[in-house]
Amino acid sequence: MIGFPRQVTACAHANIALVKYWGKRDAELNLPAAGSLSLTLAELTTTTSVRFVPGAARDTLTLDGHPAPEPARARLASWLDLVRDRAGSDLHAEVSSVNDFPTASGLASSASAYAAVTVAACAAAGLDLDQRELSLLARRGSGSAARSIFGGFVIMHRGQRDDGGDAFAEALSTAESWPVRMIVAVVGGGAPKAHSSREAMEHCARTSPLHAAWLQTVPRDLAEAQDAVAASDLVALGEVAERSALTMHAAAMASRPPILYWRPETLTCMQTVRVLRAGGVPAYFTIDAGPHVKVLTLDEHAERVARTLREVDGVTEVVRCTPGGPAVVVEEPTS
Ligand code: DP6
Repeated sequence: MIGFPRQVTACAHANIALVKYWGKRDAELNLPAAGSLSLTLAELTTTTSVRFVPGAARDTLTLDGHPAPEPARARLASWLDLVRDRAGSDLHAEVSSVNDFPTASGLASSASAYAAVTVAACAAAGLDLDQRELSLLARRGSGSAARSIFGGFVIMHRGQRDDGGDAFAEALSTAESWPVRMIVAVVGGGAPKAHSSREAMEHCARTSPLHAAWLQTVPRDLAEAQDAVAASDLVALGEVAERSALTMHAAAMASRPPILYWRPETLTCMQTVRVLRAGGVPAYFTIDAGPHVKVLTLDEHAERVARTLREVDGVTEVVRCTPGGPAVVVEEPTS
């Protein structure tokens, strides 16, 4: 039982997939249809506080200081039921979350949000879970969140079991010995995206004639990306990352009606990266469910890549990111 109210604060970092997750094998348990591979980014952080409150009538959610829209609150409330079940409690929670980057704009906010709330809520409920168990629980909130439990390069396993017990994430490397960088070019001011990744991937799976073909490409890309990380081979990893993103977006674009996240500036950034590469700079792009472009490179080229992207018309912000650490409690529970 949860004995008394205590607030716990945790922080987690966003992650950017280099081999994308785009499709589910079970929507209820939120099981991915294929594995994925990502890099956790130190500079994109969500900080979340959770307190279970005796007598509270329902769960509440504050996002960046404002009451969250009802669908986001309701989604969190169903997820909190999982924590309550495990802790043997029926107390509702007050959850307050702050992002230091634009929410729901394709900068992977659900990943850091559900990773942070998983760590904070479990600690507040007195649950002592290891990172694998935390990633299983975070996955129920958002598939990509399972990866943000860990720092550095992370692999998410598809798993085979119907109950999802083997669909967890795992750290591949802390990336400490390999100075990779991710330059995030925010396009169009970070406005909320038109389709959430959850709705879009479901729509794509249901209507896109290319969805099955996309899924078939993932196992090989995943194996190659893992080898590239193990060998610290940026060229190999970058090539996989670009084709994974482009194949995912091709499947999305072929949906009916189509899902098109790109803006003209998105394409300009992609071309800019190719020009940099032709000039000898190892830089590779990836794009998620939004118009922003994230560029994988090495520390020694990061300034040049960031400067070049800043000059693209319509790029409103450029964030130079380094590999981030795991999701952690930042404030010990007070009784
Ligand atoms: C394009 O993790 O947001 O960013 O599991 O439905 O919450 P749900 O989806 P979500 O999807 C992320 C999609 C992506 C690619 C990726 O991060 O792998």
